[in-house]
Amino acid sequence: MSFSNNKVKINRKLDLSRLPVHIGIILDGNGRWATRKGLPRNMGHKAGCENVKRIVQHIYDLGIKCATFFMFSTENWKRPKEEVDGIFNIVREYLGESAEQFVEKGVKISTMGDITKLPDDLFNKLVECVAKTAKCSKFNLNLAINYGGRDEIIRAVNQIVENGQKLNNIDEFKQYLYSKDLPDPDFIIRTSGEMRISNFMLYQMAYSEFYFTPTLWPDFSEKELQKALINFQNRKRRFGGLNKS
Ligand code: IPE
Ligand code: MG
Repeated sequence: MSFSNNKVKINRKLDLSRLPVHIGIILDGNGRWATRKGLPRNMGHKAGCENVKRIVQHIYDLGIKCATFFMFSTENWKRPKEEVDGIFNIVREYLGESAEQFVEKGVKISTMGDITKLPDDLFNKLVECVAKTAKCSKFNLNLAINYGGRDEIIRAVNQIVENGQKLNNIDEFKQYLYSKDLPDPDFIIRTSGEMRISNFMLYQMAYSEFYFTPTLWPDFSEKELQKALINFQNRKRRFGGLNKS
């Protein structure tokens, strides 16, 4: 997170009073971005991480309260070790250089996924960032790392069985999810032209609005984020009910 003061122009069509509370981002296309430029895939992840900083900054500047970035899925372990290590290095670097600024700017860091399976130092860094920023309340940056929606649901069910609990409503189930303290995502963006969910927030997305764009993640700009948000604002959300007239 660079937290530059470079304010990006706001599109006149964007209504800052009707922004989603929680945005989920399935950042995809880092590898293709690099390959198209004749670069190794890890350079794509590096550029992707730079873009995470840029977009986090812009989301923060717009006044959105919460964003989840899908950084690494439970399925991404299938990739070559070199790539997996490269991604972890980049996340490590990001947290290292931004930890102080998170506190200064009121950014609460939370995580989603089984971070105990990550390399020890990355796990420790994440735990430290979460602890340091626990009282921050301006913006919540939720990092999904070693996260899978199915894995999260199975983990919840196992805990419920262990507790011998019978659930009475949806909210009780939510207490067992990584995202128990977060509102469900209103809006989910996926880059790179793939129109699938890839195990992201399966339970939480019941009423999310989706936005798919062919833009590869490292090229997804503040301007395009605003375009996506305008698109979101033009939708009628009914949550299974009827339009209010
Ligand atoms: C997304 O970019 C980054 C992660 C999920 C870690 P990809 O690495 O999936 O990029 P493509 O899909 O190969 O282009
Ligand atoms: Mg991909």
